[in-house]
Amino acid sequence: MPQEQSFAERLVGWQRAAGRHDLPWQRTRDPYRVWLSEIMLQQTQVATVIPYYARFLEAFPDVAALAAAPAEQVLALWAGLGYYARARNLHRCAQQVVAVHGGFFPKTAAGLAELPGIGRSTAAAVAAFCYAERTAILDGNVKRVLCRVFGIDGFPGSTAVDRKLWALAETLLPEAADDMPAYTQGLMDLGATLCTRGLPHCPACPFADVCVARRDGRQRELPAPKPRAAVPERESTFVLIVADNRLLLERRPPAGLWGGLLVPPEGEPEAVLAARGLLAVDRRELPFLKHAFTHFRLTLKPVLCRVASQGKAGLAEPGGEWIELERAAEAGVPTPIRKLISLVANPAD
Ligand code: ADE
Repeated sequence: MPQEQSFAERLVGWQRAAGRHDLPWQRTRDPYRVWLSEIMLQQTQVATVIPYYARFLEAFPDVAALAAAPAEQVLALWAGLGYYARARNLHRCAQQVVAVHGGFFPKTAAGLAELPGIGRSTAAAVAAFCYAERTAILDGNVKRVLCRVFGIDGFPGSTAVDRKLWALAETLLPEAADDMPAYTQGLMDLGATLCTRGLPHCPACPFADVCVARRDGRQRELPAPKPRAAVPERESTFVLIVADNRLLLERRPPAGLWGGLLVPPEGEPEAVLAARGLLAVDRRELPFLKHAFTHFRLTLKPVLCRVASQGKAGLAEPGGEWIELERAAEAGVPTPIRKLISLVANPAD
């Protein structure tokens, strides 16, 4: 960063002047309180967490009280915060702190990260806030800030980008350990208040003059979104069986693709005809039709099979209906099937 002040100096200065200082879990170095707040804040907004945090501390003023509580009481106080694995791990973690560590949280990020429910970033946050350890946090908000300020492309959830961001985060730490709480809070505050998702408030940002995303007008593009998985491709043969100018349609079971709709039999023509006791007198492959569903793309391969007149008795195919070709497209069939039918009913189209 080509300027006289380091990243950390700027951030610490900004946090002290413009960051948040009155959140209920600030102004304490009690690892129990800080840890509890960090777990609650993992997937939940500050405003939602505040009343839960107060009720929790009232019910469980220290880690021993939480460890000794019945699981049902912990879950009841958590109800509404969501992601209940967090509450179960919280309880297990408290029990482990009591049983294995004599009621004292480990004093390093590495030690904290061994406990249930405490990942690398949460361990670092607790160690930075409570023990001023020089260790980097990297949650979703911090990834957004770093991707924008340093112009880092690629999806931050990918292993390669994640590694790059951790390495970068380690290089940015302030030299003085005393600055670690303000620095760590500054990263969180910047991500939560200025460098927000959607349109950030760049003019107030301490990195406005050096931010790559701002320089290039790429605030909306960074961090890069998760790449969309390729849509699977499927193909299937549909047998358009015509007798006496009527088309055989069969009703699909209620659940699944095209549930409850009328569709021509699907499968290899020989097997389809044999299963229905029919014999083709003429068979013709029709052009393929592609159709995009939300989760896959389907290539429909239509085969037209004319069969001998079914006479009056033969028209009652069990599970199926012989429908006049002119009416078939309007008989409650899905869109791509309607297109197939029109190939047969209006061959000139
Ligand atoms: N989100 C995660 N940790 C936080 C903290 N300590 N303060 C505010 N928001 C947070």
